[in-house]
Amino acid sequence: MLILMDFLFNSQTEQHFTDVVLSEEFLNLGIEQVCSLISSDKLTISSEEKVFEAVIAWVNHDKDVRQEFMARLMEHVRLPLLPREYLVQRVEEEALVKNSSACKDYLIEAMKYHLLPTEQRILMKSVRTRLRTPMNLPKLMVVVGGQAPKAIRSVECYDFKEERWHQVAELPSRRCRAGMVYMAGLVFAVGGFNGSLRVRTVDSYDPVKDQWTSVANMRDRRSTLGAAVLNGLLYAVGGFDGSTGLSSVEAYNIKSNEWFHVAPMNTRRSSVGVGVVGGLLYAVGGYDGASRQCLSTVECYNATTNEWSYIAEMSTRRSGAGVGVLNNLLYAVGGHDGPLVRKSVEVYDPTTNAWRQVADMNMCRRNAGVCAVNGLLYVVGGDDGSCNLASVEYYNPTTDKWTVVSSCMSTGRSYAVQRNVNKPQRYNIKS
Ligand SMILES: *[C@@H]1O[C@H](CO)[C@@H](O)[C@H](O)[C@H]1NC(C)=O
Ligand SMILES: *[C@@H]1O[C@H](CO)[C@@H](O)[C@H](O)[C@H]1NC(C)=O
Repeated sequence: MLILMDFLFNSQTEQHFTDVVLSEEFLNLGIEQVCSLISSDKLTISSEEKVFEAVIAWVNHDKDVRQEFMARLMEHVRLPLLPREYLVQRVEEEALVKNSSACKDYLIEAMKYHLLPTEQRILMKSVRTRLRTPMNLPKLMVVVGGQAPKAIRSVECYDFKEERWHQVAELPSRRCRAGMVYMAGLVFAVGGFNGSLRVRTVDSYDPVKDQWTSVANMRDRRSTLGAAVLNGLLYAVGGFDGSTGLSSVEAYNIKSNEWFHVAPMNTRRSSVGVGVVGGLLYAVGGYDGASRQCLSTVECYNATTNEWSYIAEMSTRRSGAGVGVLNNLLYAVGGHDGPLVRKSVEVYDPTTNAWRQVADMNMCRRNAGVCAVNGLLYVVGGDDGSCNLASVEYYNPTTDKWTVVSSCMSTGRSYAVQRNVNKPQRYNIKS
């Protein structure tokens, strides 16, 4: 399975804010430091919710002393940029906000922003309506292993600024059909197929050192699995162990370097695509070894209740679909149903529990990688049913159009895995 996801790291705190917030170090910062961090336009965050949650976590860490700072902190949280539902369901319900009239004023400002027609919103000149602009950091996309035509060790990086591909350190062993995530500054290649066996092994890549290291094995052998990060844990979902499709799901805790099983899915899914939206993990389509059918069903996992539940089905069966998340929407890209490889794409909105069709890709693709970069959804490689593809195309949601990128990878590969990274300051690229 080939998947990719947006991920962010850099040497400066403001540029890996999401990781920092989870740390003890953040909770122990002083008020001035927190204000200076969250007031920065350069803060790299996936959504403004993260800033609100960080403020609440910081205050609650020492509530008696810190709750008097709520208004000072909320001055820097860009509430107008949050979705209405979040304002009503989360922000308004927060006791720390309710207890402060200044905070309630910020909430009213945000509500007003949402009520205004778009053209009048621009006239609302407040620091809280300004978009954060971390976007122009140079970004790299890493493509790991894959099948070309057999499992390979090669790893390539695409530099979005230079618009070209570079070779980087090879995998310790051959791997394709792996899962891949970026977590805590490292890229993880999880399970997959080494040319003779489905493996339990997991390797992690440090882009700053340009070096691979092995970490703890999974409990189950899995190839064509889905992998994603939810609440700081790495999840390996479904896949194929060499004889059957798997419904089992396990999670990896980087601190203890341990894997543990969580609730299995309702359905066996190999060639499954996964994505995280709104704190829930979605498993999309795949192949059910039992009924020998490609699947249109989708289920989602809530880590708090440790339960999987079905959501609305896709309009078509998709196994080996690329799954990506852009603007809180879940995209299912291509895939196949039997011999038919698709170029169609559909998108799921969790707030309405409905899928809708968007523009077709230029090429039919299955087992391609998908990731969001700078507001665009990139799809990399895959195969069209007869050939591995080296091409890359991206989707722009504002124009509903797909565009082919001019520079291809050096080899066509499917079942590779890829992730986006912000380019480290000292990146050792061997061209
Ligand atoms: C695949 O993994 C197995 C078990 O870990 C190992 O014995 C075998 O040599 C590997 N095959 C290749 C082609 O690397
Ligand atoms: C998970 O389920 C619990 C209990 O139903 C609910 O309170 C919580 O909001 C759910 N989590 C998400 C992220 O939806």
